[in-house]
Amino acid sequence: MRAHVVTFGCQMNEYDTHAIQSELAGIGYSFVEDYHDADLVLVNTCAVRGKPVEKANTFLGELRKVKQQRGNLTIGLMGCLAQLPEGQRMGRKFNVDIMLGPGAITEIVPAIEKGRFQSFEFKSELQFYSPPPPQGAVTANLTIMRGCNHRCTYCIVPATRGDEVSRPAADILAEARSLQDAGVVEVTLLGQNVNSYGLDAGTGTRRKSLAGYPSFGELLRMVGRVGIPRLRFVTSHPINFDDEIIEAIADTPAVCRYIHLPVQSGSNRVLKRMAREYTREYYLDRVRRIRELLPDATLTTDIIVGFPGETEEDFQETLTLYNEVEYDAAYMFNYSEREGTPAAIHFDDIAKAAKTERLTRLIELSKQVSLKQNQKWVGREVEVLIKGASDEEGFAQGHTRGNHVVMMEGSPAPGIHQALVIHATPNRLYCRLSGAAATTQMLKSRSLPVLQTNLVQ
Ligand code: 5AD
Ligand code: SF4
Repeated sequence: MRAHVVTFGCQMNEYDTHAIQSELAGIGYSFVEDYHDADLVLVNTCAVRGKPVEKANTFLGELRKVKQQRGNLTIGLMGCLAQLPEGQRMGRKFNVDIMLGPGAITEIVPAIEKGRFQSFEFKSELQFYSPPPPQGAVTANLTIMRGCNHRCTYCIVPATRGDEVSRPAADILAEARSLQDAGVVEVTLLGQNVNSYGLDAGTGTRRKSLAGYPSFGELLRMVGRVGIPRLRFVTSHPINFDDEIIEAIADTPAVCRYIHLPVQSGSNRVLKRMAREYTREYYLDRVRRIRELLPDATLTTDIIVGFPGETEEDFQETLTLYNEVEYDAAYMFNYSEREGTPAAIHFDDIAKAAKTERLTRLIELSKQVSLKQNQKWVGREVEVLIKGASDEEGFAQGHTRGNHVVMMEGSPAPGIHQALVIHATPNRLYCRLSGAAATTQMLKSRSLPVLQTNLVQ
């Protein structure tokens, strides 16, 4: 029995795909690279924007052709898109056999046994499900909570993943230990909004801890004591990113100084229409506190451009905020209208050309700021986790504790290395292993500007 599993979307989906593959392996499936060779193809989907939905649509079209030619192919649609009316229409159109929403992935084995099956429940057993560690990996994800209690008006996630549910801390710790035993050196704690781990219902700043659950700050300290060299977490919501969390990061050496804090817009008017629950000033105060306690931290964000009603003045506010924070990097998106969200129901989408024009300007600014930020690292020692070969000849690829993408001279083994930063571009740091012979040959032959003036600070 041969399966092919495709993942569209975020790290939560990667984690779920790993869980699904572990279940399939448990009933005797092997995995094939080419879906033409598979008896079972599972598509784990994302619905956050139109693009991943189109991708799933195209792929399902190809699978339908294979199925029509061969007859004996089982197709499964899983994840966020499967949960939505849009995905269920696609399921019928492309003759999909198995449909499982993101809360029903634990039903994969009985679904395969039945051959044709669907479930869109949020199964409570998922809260207690722990997949086995991945084999031979140096990095791994660990989902600590699922769902989201916020109701950002543009966002489909509350509809697809439901309300927040936190996993018990003991299970998280046990999973972290098993990852460590399997040789993993970097673990990323995952959730739609990890900062509200272990909190009771609702949103905002006044939520109480659930009985028996630590706060997110306490959880960071607990997982930090397991002994894994690098600990990360994504994603955060500014309203829940309280001082206790910043202090826990500062006190816990294992936690990487990398904070992804989605702002979405710099305009209070737009933030209000997005129902983000904070103002520009509140956000900037969080940044101020982060900079105070974690001066070297990398700060990244998500920004949506062209939200309904966004004026040029609103957009300028995003640009000025970007300049003020000096983000190391950003994920920037055109607003994408999602069926059934409050923004789609109540607001009118603005012209695509206007969105794209603004996005181009924002990307241009982000490149300038990223270059300036990255150049600050030139001449400094950094810790690099090498994952393997890179797309550039003569360099291996890795990332720093601050999550900068690193191109490392030579071919060091996967794992953690100390290195010197010798050159920076807007999205990469070029490094040399510390103690390695000082050869700039490789960089010269690639005609990159070699060695910045502040090589030795
Ligand atoms: N359109 C564009 N971007 C979106 N995001 C979420 N919903 C939408 C949408 N409808 C972005 C947000 C979020 C990231 C994961 O995706 O910036 O932080
Ligand atoms: Fe979507 Fe907002 Fe929840 Fe993030 S916080 S998943 S953007 S609703």
